[in-house]
Amino acid sequence: MKLLCPSIMCANLDHIKDEIELLDQAGADIFHLDIMDGNFVPNITLGLSDVRAVRRNTKKMIDVHLMIENPMNKVQWFIDAGADIIYIHPESERFVIKTLQYIKEQGKHPGIAISPDWSMEMCSELLPFCDYVLVMTVNPGFAGQKYIDTMTLKVKKLVEVKDHYGYRLLIDGGCSLEVIQSLSKIGVDGFVLGTSVLFNKDEDYRTILNRLKED
Ligand code: DX5
Ligand code: ZN
Repeated sequence: MKLLCPSIMCANLDHIKDEIELLDQAGADIFHLDIMDGNFVPNITLGLSDVRAVRRNTKKMIDVHLMIENPMNKVQWFIDAGADIIYIHPESERFVIKTLQYIKEQGKHPGIAISPDWSMEMCSELLPFCDYVLVMTVNPGFAGQKYIDTMTLKVKKLVEVKDHYGYRLLIDGGCSLEVIQSLSKIGVDGFVLGTSVLFNKDEDYRTILNRLKED
C-alpha cells in the first residue's frame, strides 16, 4: 500500500475547497503542503492560512514540508493550524533533534526532509527521532523539475535501515509514474504527487490515483 500525497501548491488554488474534497474522495492519503520563506529557498509558496484551509476540508493527514530558516520557532504555529506530520530540513535548524523531540512531545509526527546535497550518513544521528523521512529528489523550491537519478542510491540505503528505525520513507520531487513504480518495488512507502503525475493532466484525480495504487 503506497501513501499518495498530493502536493497542494500544484493544485488549482482558485478552488482550494473543491480541490481538497476531490483529492480526498479520489483516495489521497496525506495532503503535502510546501511552506517556503524566500530565504531558505528562493521561493515563497503556501503558509499558515493554507494549512488551515486544507484542515477545514479534510479529516485525512496533513504534512507540512518546512523549507524555512529556524523552524523550531515556528513549529507550534503549524501544529495549531492542523498539521499532523512536520518535516524540517536539518540544514535549516541549529538544534534538529530538539525540534524533532518537541514535535513528538506535542503528539505529532516528526520528520526530516533530506535535500539532494545531503547524504544518508549526514542524517544518521537524526533517524531514531523520525516517524517519517522525506527524500528530496529535486532541489527544494520549485515544482516541475526532473528526478535526479543519483538520488536512488541514497533511497536504497534509507530503505535498508527503515525497519530498524521504524520510519516511513517518502519521496518528493519529479515523481513520475515510472519513478513511483520502480521505487515502490524496492520498498519506498510513499510519494509526493505534483506536476509530474497528478496535476494539469487530462485524466481526473480518481483515475490517476487508482492507477498509482494498483501498480
Ligand atoms: C517541493 C515540491 C515539489 C513538487 C512535487 O517540495 O513538493 O517537488 O510539488 O511535484 P513535481 O516535482 O512532480 O512537480
Ligand atoms: Zn515538498
